[in-house]
Amino acid sequence: MSIIQQMNSKLANMIAAGEVVDRPASVVKELVENSIDAKASIITVEVVDMGMKSIIITDNGVGMDFLDAHLAFDRHATSKIMNESDLGHIMTLGFRGEALAAIASVSKVILKTRQKDQEGIEVTYHGGVFVKDGTSTLNQGTIVEVYDLFYNTPARFKYIKSDLAERQAIIDIFDRLALAHPDIRFNLIIDNKTIKSTYGTNDFFSLIDQIYGSKMTHGMTVFEETVQKVRITGYLLNPQISRSRKKDISIFVNGRYIRNYKLIQAVIDGYHSFMMVGKYPIALIHLEIDPSLLDVNVHPQKYEVKFVNESILAYYIETYVKQALLKKTHPIPETLNTIRKEEKDIYTPLNINFGEKIINEPESLNHLENNLKAEKLPDLEYVGIFSGTYILFQNQDGLYLMDQHAAAERIRYEHYFKSLANPNKAVKHLLFAHHLELTSDDLLVIQNHLEKLNHLGFYFNEQNELVGLPVWLNDSEIELAIEAMVSMLVEKEAIDLSILRDKLAKDISCKGAIKANKSLSLSEINAIVKNLRTCENPYTCPHGRPTFIKLSHYEIERMFKRVV
Ligand SMILES: Nc1ncnc2c1ncn2[C@@H]1O[C@H](COP(=O)(O)OP(=O)(O)O)[C@@H](O)[C@H]1O
Ligand SMILES: [Mg+2]
Repeated sequence: MSIIQQMNSKLANMIAAGEVVDRPASVVKELVENSIDAKASIITVEVVDMGMKSIIITDNGVGMDFLDAHLAFDRHATSKIMNESDLGHIMTLGFRGEALAAIASVSKVILKTRQKDQEGIEVTYHGGVFVKDGTSTLNQGTIVEVYDLFYNTPARFKYIKSDLAERQAIIDIFDRLALAHPDIRFNLIIDNKTIKSTYGTNDFFSLIDQIYGSKMTHGMTVFEETVQKVRITGYLLNPQISRSRKKDISIFVNGRYIRNYKLIQAVIDGYHSFMMVGKYPIALIHLEIDPSLLDVNVHPQKYEVKFVNESILAYYIETYVKQALLKKTHPIPETLNTIRKEEKDIYTPLNINFGEKIINEPESLNHLENNLKAEKLPDLEYVGIFSGTYILFQNQDGLYLMDQHAAAERIRYEHYFKSLANPNKAVKHLLFAHHLELTSDDLLVIQNHLEKLNHLGFYFNEQNELVGLPVWLNDSEIELAIEAMVSMLVEKEAIDLSILRDKLAKDISCKGAIKANKSLSLSEINAIVKNLRTCENPYTCPHGRPTFIKLSHYEIERMFKRVV
């Protein structure tokens, strides 16, 4: 007896709902995407009780006619694609025709819609079953009201109820949709309170301020580049504003927010050395690509996109981000508040060193030799040393404090990074094998990748001791280099020479840099500033800590209450 049966459409929709609308935030996403596809210029999202009680999306888009308002609830019913060839160049956010059917199968939905110069229509579905239809009064556009989400799927309901992250998930989705569409006015109302609204004026500065908070765009860098028919636009917030998670690095492709680990990493790499270790920037990357070079049909939620040439794209993103940040003269951070949090033990309060040695020297730092990069640091006149660590300078704009250790580290870092750029292939053979303290796991990694290591100039004997190493590597850096290479091999089966260079340069530069509390002569200070001017990025140490901070005239006068 045959036992296979075709599922009825209600059951099929409920199963699809598990993928498309796994939580209230996905309902918000799908419905707002429909409003965007319907060419709305104003979209309002209202949720009550984390979206479990109600989610109401109102738009002023094109609306639907009577038949479409019913067909929209059918699975695989869409106005966005007609045949297979359409799949190759999708410009709308939706195309699978399953969201409304899926949502309606796990909630109670009232759809109200009205086309220009037509009568309004209202259609109601409960748990995927048609309940009633009729006329409705509303302005042109569509209102989708979703009540009692997951009321008929108790397992899902229970899971969501206990999840307080739901509200944040809704806000996150809203943010991305709004950031992807600067031309649309968005409102988000949660439990009857307006949480966020955007103006829809196509102005990224006000849009980002609306989404992330006021004045976030202060010091923002914008770039726009076209490479091989791909337009890449970046909005890079000031690296001084950092986050401990990567989620505020957003990538958009043709107006669609996507999740792509490689491209996010490219942005992080581009910001590299402008950021503190373990901190991440806020940045938006908008890509405009010929849709035939993309596949968006990877997953029902359409968060994933396959690019024809992802690695090359990542390379360009990293390069443009880096270039743009370097081009911008970063304002030296204006306040002391955030700088020393991690290292509060370094200075002892009010230990001002007037530096006898220095007072006697007539030389002034005012007239340092000009060179190519001089414009990156302003003219500075030496004032004194604070706490044996911070060199004070002044100019017409205010007072500057330079952290001598951070500054020296930056200079050494760039020096070593450059000198490691073209590593000499020659191998230094060791008279005595160098024993490495390695775990058995690490040894296994080395044995499995001997060829790659040999290629770089690292040779081992039977006992896994090092017998040859590249001439450019300092003996004191062996341990660090091996450790860095092993972790790269574990992670990606390859040794990335540029990461290795970076790690080594950071370590060498830190070890040899002048320590805090070492007293310096004026000519030493002069040399530091002079060298710093030749650096690509004189503003931070290689770990992202500032080399300088500035107190503006205004700020000082305000502290003395001379101005308000
Ligand atoms: N807000 C809306 N305004 C106008 N038409 C809509 C709206 N929401 C849905 N529709 C219509 O309903 C259809 C089905 O929507 P949906 O199930 O989300 O599938 P898809 O978006 O993949 O086409 C859409 O193709 C569209 O024609
Ligand atoms: Mg849709």
